[in-house]
Amino acid sequence: MRGGGDMQGLYKIVFATCNKKKFEEVKEILQEYNIELERRDVKGLEIQSDELAPIALFSAIQAYNQVKREVIVEDSGLFIKSLKGFPGTYSSFVYRTLGLKGILKLMEGLEERSAYFLSSLGFCDGKEVKLFLGKVEGWVSYSERGDRGFGFDPIFIPEKLDKTFGELSLEEKNKISHRSRSVRQLAEWLKKYRQLTK
Ligand code: IMP
Repeated sequence: MRGGGDMQGLYKIVFATCNKKKFEEVKEILQEYNIELERRDVKGLEIQSDELAPIALFSAIQAYNQVKREVIVEDSGLFIKSLKGFPGTYSSFVYRTLGLKGILKLMEGLEERSAYFLSSLGFCDGKEVKLFLGKVEGWVSYSERGDRGFGFDPIFIPEKLDKTFGELSLEEKNKISHRSRSVRQLAEWLKKYRQLTK
């Protein structure tokens, strides 16, 4: 049997990530589609690029070469308009170095606070390599709010809400987040792909 299907129709795929919070978000969503997720730390080089898509595609192939099973990887970033898209693909480094306080400091006095999160999700099973993108628009708050989620969640207010991601439950974040949008596209595509490759 190709991939990780079993007799009950439950399907297993690997998510190569060391971020446990990210894993929980994706796992919750894929459960709705009867897809079970297994987490693996996959070590490898991450290429540098101003775009997320090539990073996710490269990482998906690299992860597949290590686990030799259907695998997904996900790269995301926060793009702030008044900072010309910074931190973007450097979000991880900036989070570790400047942190939330550093971003708020950079934006002190700025009224233009629009920003978006982009999720770039790569899939590889040794035959197909696919990319799914998800985006959520919003604003950078004036201060940190909420202690849920991870990363920039306490300073990002998604559009149509007056709460930060850090003030939302996992279920609430999963209804609107950039990641939920790319993951749901993957799940819908997988449904069709499996029918074709059965
Ligand atoms: P990566 O995709 O794990 O490389 O994430 C890049 C950085 O973006 C992480 O260090 C997080 O700080 C941040 N980030 C990614 N996704 C989210 C999210 O859903 N909420 C808040 N921060 C995020």
